[in-house]
Amino acid sequence: MSVGKSVSHDSAVGHVTGSSIFIDDRAKHKNEVYVGVLGAPVCAGAILKIDGSEALKMKGVFGVFTAKDIPHNKWGTIVPEQPILAFEKIGYIDEPVCLIACADEDTFNAVKKLVKIEVREEKPILTIDDALIKNSILCQANPFVRGDIEGALKNAPNVLIGAFECGGQEHFYMESQATVVYPLENGQLEVHSSSQHPTETQHVVAHSLGLDYSQVVCVVKRMGGGFGGKESQAAHFAAMAGLVAYKLNRPARLALTKDDDMMMTGKRHPFKNFYDVGFDDTGKITALKVVIVANGGAYVDLTPSILDRAMFHADGCYYLENCYIEGKAVRTNQHSNTAFRGFGGPQGNMTIESIVEDIAHYLKKDAFEVRRINLYGINDRNVTPYNQTVEHNLLPELFDKLHKSSEYQKRKDNISAFNKTKSGKVRGLSMTGAKFGIAFTTKFLNQGNALVNVHLDGTVQVSTGATEMGQGVNTKMQQIAATCFGIPHKSVVLMPTSTEKNHNTSPTAASSGTDINGGAVFNACEGILQTLRWVFLQQHSGVVYDGIKSMPAVDVKADLSHVEFIDGNVIDQKTKKSMTFKDLLKIAYLNQFSLAGYAFYKTPDLGFDKSTHEGRAFNYFTNGAAVSEVEVDEYTGELKVLRTDILMDLGRPINPGIDIGQVSGAFIQGMGWVTTENLFYHESGKLLSHSPTTYKIPNIQDTPRIFNIELMENHTNTRNVMRSKAVGEPPLLLGSSVWTAVKNALSYRSEDVLPHITSPATNEVILMELNRYE
Ligand code: MTE
Ligand code: HPA
Ligand code: MOS
Repeated sequence: MSVGKSVSHDSAVGHVTGSSIFIDDRAKHKNEVYVGVLGAPVCAGAILKIDGSEALKMKGVFGVFTAKDIPHNKWGTIVPEQPILAFEKIGYIDEPVCLIACADEDTFNAVKKLVKIEVREEKPILTIDDALIKNSILCQANPFVRGDIEGALKNAPNVLIGAFECGGQEHFYMESQATVVYPLENGQLEVHSSSQHPTETQHVVAHSLGLDYSQVVCVVKRMGGGFGGKESQAAHFAAMAGLVAYKLNRPARLALTKDDDMMMTGKRHPFKNFYDVGFDDTGKITALKVVIVANGGAYVDLTPSILDRAMFHADGCYYLENCYIEGKAVRTNQHSNTAFRGFGGPQGNMTIESIVEDIAHYLKKDAFEVRRINLYGINDRNVTPYNQTVEHNLLPELFDKLHKSSEYQKRKDNISAFNKTKSGKVRGLSMTGAKFGIAFTTKFLNQGNALVNVHLDGTVQVSTGATEMGQGVNTKMQQIAATCFGIPHKSVVLMPTSTEKNHNTSPTAASSGTDINGGAVFNACEGILQTLRWVFLQQHSGVVYDGIKSMPAVDVKADLSHVEFIDGNVIDQKTKKSMTFKDLLKIAYLNQFSLAGYAFYKTPDLGFDKSTHEGRAFNYFTNGAAVSEVEVDEYTGELKVLRTDILMDLGRPINPGIDIGQVSGAFIQGMGWVTTENLFYHESGKLLSHSPTTYKIPNIQDTPRIFNIELMENHTNTRNVMRSKAVGEPPLLLGSSVWTAVKNALSYRSEDVLPHITSPATNEVILMELNRYE
């Protein structure tokens, strides 16, 4: 059985040898043009005039396009309010305003200064605080309310009031936003895009040009990373290339440079979350009031859903008897912030982990003890603030196992002793947890469809709406189909994602790519298998060329599971008769049976009602915990992560090897967000850290010196395909353990003040905090 094995990623060899094809590796077509994008020169205001006449005179320039050239200039996943090219109103600096269609990148660089952009500048809103003062609200959400919050706060033996603040994060995918559009016959377009959401890309391209959806096909072979940054924001860049291809009737290629990509595209949302927490002397939280504020940037994009997810994760792994969780997002003059691995979950989860760390320091207790007391219970204290019962709760077991395997107590004692030596270095240790809700919180997105073609040599082609961005979704679906048919996984090939094979697809996001598309693949295979079982039972010896009648309706759903598909053979467990899979395919074909399957899947039983707060928000939870140990240099603020131990519950993993890759990658990405990844803006609002030289993502030297990852296998998750659990985003939340470990280290020097740091805890932030204690 292929499911459960660590088979290698279907693009492993291609990526390592460099033969994998990304958008800009596509061979150039005859007549193809390069599309260069110009950005707005100021953060706020309006464009008065764009004059491209000088540029148009230059050799190799074929067209200059602005908002006025686009039949329908507005797009947006939730609210169609964002211009593809801005004009009347500038949302943010470097926002796309003008396209130059030309021979190549050199021509673009030579002529771009010739385009004159006249603006009327206005004063921008650049921070959450400023937006709150000016009441620049982008959206608001109904609060989650349970118990008597005011009474509980009043009666609490201890109360802490504060705010947790975290910065944004650049996706830093290796492949920038990129699209090539080929004009076909009769005004049709073929769009190749680095997109997590081919269907939305198809729709935005078609709508912008006034075409029917059926006139546009969007194909995604793979992305060089997406991380959420290509869930919504691939679409308008595809529309820009589409515009040029359509107007000039020539293939058009748009691939942003790294700098332009970093300046023009949205990032993770910065948050500022205000809280009042009441707790007893054991550390048990009796009341929590949180007002979550997200910086949405210039446009709505996915912000309302991200805000929802932040609220859904404000409980972390902890039961809140009395709580009030409110959320709002502000509109500012920054790049429009968007999906980023975790989708608001990390910003909600980290707030309560920070609070718990503070409670422990305040009560002079170990933070693990405080966490353990507050953890969701198994039979009671197991209902979330949004009324979902935490079923099969593995958190207590997971926390206790990791506490033991990481030698938490022994290391804590060693750290206390070490910190007394005053060596100029101070160490800290902390455990944080993740209980990540799996499902799109937008109910209708929880659907997928799949097409499976079985060929006569016993090999299989699978097409779904899932897009491969490195996460291994193709490999997992290969394994699911291979397991269904009892064939080697190498006999299954995942075909490029295309809207002509799979329509109305959801983005590959919310970690649910394998869940919904794998579910559809399973259903499609099951349809074919049932036909094959029936054919087999009609004729299970020798090759018959004719005479098997079509399957009667009653047998479509009959239980024929005694006919099994194992190791390339088909065997009837009742009679023990068997034949090869290939022979059975031939019999089925010659008798005119379809060997294709198309199926649909929707996640059952979901449906959280935002007004009544009833119904299931999530299909299940993926859980995990991490213990990190850090060392801070007290003279420089330099941070080293000495060791991290992670324990994840991924149900029964389809591919443990790929999953461990996802856990390590997500953790490191989360660690980067809370430590070195500092988006730095000029006071005018311009992003200054827009290249690898100024924006610091983790490298190999930043990874924990000792890094242990274990999976806690369990077979309880009957709610998902093959009893697996989604892995993509949840472990990102565990990066927070590095940040809380920094707080823990600081607490050894801060004595009676609560250490207060923002995220990311850069060396500067740490050093300034240490200086505050002197
Ligand atoms: N892993 C790699 N290598 N590259 C990526 O871009 N994106 C993450 C995660 N893991 C990403 C990744 C995000 S944001 C999500 S939502 C999931 O993968 C999406 O894929 P899945 O649903 O198939 O897990
Ligand atoms: N996660 C990711 N993308 C989404 C979601 C979600 O929960 N809801 C809508 N788009
Ligand atoms: Mo992931 S942020 O849901 O694309």
